[in-house]
Amino acid sequence: KSSLEETLLSSIRTIPDYPKPGILFRDITTLLGNARAFRRAIDELVHPYAGSKIDKIAGIEARGFILGGAIAHQLSAGFVPIRKKGKLPHETVRVAYSLEYGLDEMEMHRDAVKPGEKVILVDDLIATGGTAEGAVRLLTQMGADIVAACFIVDLPDLGGRAKLEALGVDVRTLIA
Ligand code: PRP
Ligand code: HPA
Repeated sequence: KSSLEETLLSSIRTIPDYPKPGILFRDITTLLGNARAFRRAIDELVHPYAGSKIDKIAGIEARGFILGGAIAHQLSAGFVPIRKKGKLPHETVRVAYSLEYGLDEMEMHRDAVKPGEKVILVDDLIATGGTAEGAVRLLTQMGADIVAACFIVDLPDLGGRAKLEALGVDVRTLIA
């Protein structure tokens, strides 16, 4: 493993049976609290896009907001929040989705992305890919050009990466 992978893997903590029995929850709050790990993760997520024109970073609530804000700043891009239903004040598009441990709905403001804008989707982790797939549907509905979907952690056994790639989305992850 590379030193980057070692740094990131060792900064993530695993909580058994959270939020439901049988789930091994990969908790990235310890990575966020580690200055070196947080900086290295952001640098690594950003570097393929340095110098290319990215209009917006779309971050998925909640941990995609933390990473997405830092990435948007680095790339001089705007930030678009994709939120759990009922949280956004203006007109929205909404999608139902399933994830590793449940079902929910999320929304994006209708005017948050203009047709043809180059967007990078960001979240902390991809498991089944249900959440990211929902976000891709919202962005596609608004005419976004999705340049990539980026995550720190991939849980490859749950098939999320393959699900997004089947939709034609370029997926980038830092550790599995
Ligand atoms: C987690 C994680 C991703 C999603 C991944 O968020 O941050 O958004 O689940 O799962 P999936 O690939 O199976 O869809 P969660 O829904 O727990 O919400 P939170 O960020 O509000 O805690
Ligand atoms: N950690 C964080 N979010 C998640 C996980 C996990 O292990 N599984 C599905 N969403």
